[in-house]
Amino acid sequence: MKTYRIPHTDLDVSCLGYGCLKLGGSWDRAPLGRAERARAAHVIATALDQGITLFDHADIYTYGKSEAVFGEVLQQLPGVRDTIVLQSKCGIRFQDDPQPGDPPRYDFSSHHILHAVEGSLRRLHTSHLDVLLLHRPDPLVEPEEVAQAFTELQRSGKVRYFGVSNHTAAQIALLQRYLDQPLVINQVELNLLHAHLITDGIGANQAGVPHTAAGGTLDYCRVHDIMIQAWAPVAGGTLIDPPPGAEARVRTTAERVAEWANDKATSREAVVLAWLLRHPARIQPIVGTTTPDRLVASCLADRLELSREEWYALLVTARGASLP
Ligand SMILES: NC(=O)c1ccc[n+]([C@@H]2O[C@H](COP(=O)([O-])OP(=O)(O)OC[C@H]3O[C@@H](n4cnc5c(N)ncnc54)[C@H](OP(=O)(O)O)[C@@H]3O)[C@@H](O)[C@H]2O)c1
Repeated sequence: MKTYRIPHTDLDVSCLGYGCLKLGGSWDRAPLGRAERARAAHVIATALDQGITLFDHADIYTYGKSEAVFGEVLQQLPGVRDTIVLQSKCGIRFQDDPQPGDPPRYDFSSHHILHAVEGSLRRLHTSHLDVLLLHRPDPLVEPEEVAQAFTELQRSGKVRYFGVSNHTAAQIALLQRYLDQPLVINQVELNLLHAHLITDGIGANQAGVPHTAAGGTLDYCRVHDIMIQAWAPVAGGTLIDPPPGAEARVRTTAERVAEWANDKATSREAVVLAWLLRHPARIQPIVGTTTPDRLVASCLADRLELSREEWYALLVTARGASLP
């Protein structure tokens, strides 16, 4: 599989990453069962076999079970840890954590970041994370606290590189002003149906075209060499199998995707992911299926190159409106 160098690092990663969110099964505190263990082992083996080298986690995924089952599988695969890039996230806290009645919240305090990383290292059975991302912007962030935590984590060798997720350009700039380490990744929701990070700029000078607060974020990341990772790259399957009652633009896009997959003798997943890979920002889709066949189908994207004309044709279909 093609690789990208994560800017400001010595890490080369496959152009598709694997998202481990659903490996732990249900979102509850029930213990891991045999079925989750077997499914995780199968899909992780498939990912490795397909040449995927970046694995994305978060401390909260299925209440820690996703990291835990991944850690178990890793222990059964001696030598693999050193061949992969392990990434996790922190900063989201659940209701009742730690006291009953505590609200769901974000927490970028130094204490919480350090505590969360300890938990991830323990569950993943690893001495270090290659990359740590701050999961969602915390409006109460005190960047000095983040700086303190990052410096301590780097000094102790527990985290090599740092990044963010779901952050705007201004939020990244604020943090970066206080950090000694470069922010190397911004992981954002990005797919054909949720493409405003890519499309905001198109209508920037157009009356009546709505913009989002994220406008300029993609360009900012390119200017500052921050790698963009795309979460929900196939929109949770909506672009492959639209649910009943999906809007017309979704159905039409899925039809076009299916038609091209057929014409190009590839998979529908590959067409959808190739749309992200065609962007010159070198976007890394984080694929989240737990179905090995779908993962193999997704990896065909590595061999599919869309032309400028095809990229725009899909964009206009998915927008459901012509370009200005
Ligand atoms: N930073 C953040 O805030 C954030 C938020 C969400 C996710 N993430 C990361 O991004 C990763 C990917 O997110 P995602 O799971 O939403 O991405 P996705 O790859 O767009 O969607 C995968 C999900 O869609 C389902 N699906 C249904 N039909 C499918 C089809 N034909 N092909 C492929 N998948 C189909 C899969 O089910 P099956 O498993 O049954 O195949 C799976 O639940 C996560 O694992 C996580 O690591 C990050």
